[in-house]
Amino acid sequence: MTQLNKIALITGAAGGIGRSLVQVFHDAGYHIIATDMAAQPQDLHCTCYLQADLARFVEDQVYASEVISAIRKTLHGAGLNTLINNAAIQILGGAESLSRQDLRTTLDVNLLAPFLLTQALLPELEAAKGCVVNIGSIHARLTKKNFVAYATSKAALAGMTRALAVDLGPRVRINAIEPAAIETAMLKDGFNGKPELYRQLEACHPQQRIGQPEEVARLALAISAGGMNFLHGACIGLDGGIASRLFDPDC
Ligand SMILES: NC(=O)c1ccc[n+]([C@@H]2O[C@H](COP(=O)([O-])OP(=O)(O)OC[C@H]3O[C@@H](n4cnc5c(N)ncnc54)[C@H](O)[C@@H]3O)[C@@H](O)[C@H]2O)c1
Repeated sequence: MTQLNKIALITGAAGGIGRSLVQVFHDAGYHIIATDMAAQPQDLHCTCYLQADLARFVEDQVYASEVISAIRKTLHGAGLNTLINNAAIQILGGAESLSRQDLRTTLDVNLLAPFLLTQALLPELEAAKGCVVNIGSIHARLTKKNFVAYATSKAALAGMTRALAVDLGPRVRINAIEPAAIETAMLKDGFNGKPELYRQLEACHPQQRIGQPEEVARLALAISAGGMNFLHGACIGLDGGIASRLFDPDC
């Protein structure tokens, strides 16, 4: 891998938004180190694909060292320009039904893995004057029933983004993107056979639509590119205006 090109490490690269992140950063000339617990999808434009489980990465120190070594090996001593903490899980359940394991796994993947990856790769990020982009969610601020585990993890990810910005100071920039509903295959599957509900979902966004994965990826690229150095500790909503809307009944 040459240091002529910028290098991005993207987690959750096999998922709906992850694939767009890989494509958009690839098109912008980045070398991509892609990682996911799932097998490498065909036609993913990455320089290197590492299959790794981030829940295990958090719980198993030996495994974590192996994953970091594998990442360092692919870097060949180069710096890391962008770390995109995109992988996440969404375990639905309310106060009565969520298990300890549900909460632990959610916090491991959605919160602790982003922290521990950032921590482990600080030397490489600093060497490249790089940045971290955490993919959060509108659920950090506004949520609904049965999203307790996910919403808690994304709220904590926002807090971590701000706290690390203060802690790291000028060494490594860190920001978060907080999308509302994004049109991924998984989201569409959830509305299979329910076209009216899907239309309602679109209609409750002031822009009358939900977001596209490429919009998340393009914002991540803009944050990572040069000229945004003062953007630090920000949690940026990408929500078609829905977070500005009151759902009180009209009278
Ligand atoms: N799709 C949406 O509507 C939406 C909205 C707001 C925020 N987000 C956020 O965007 C990001 C990407 O979501 P997506 O919609 O592409 O979801 P997705 O499920 O399609 O992708 C998530 C990826 O993370 C991977 N992953 C999950 N657990 C893992 C683990 N233990 N180790 C390694 N990889 C693991 C999965 O294999 C998957 O490929 C997530 O952080 C999600 O919270 C999505």
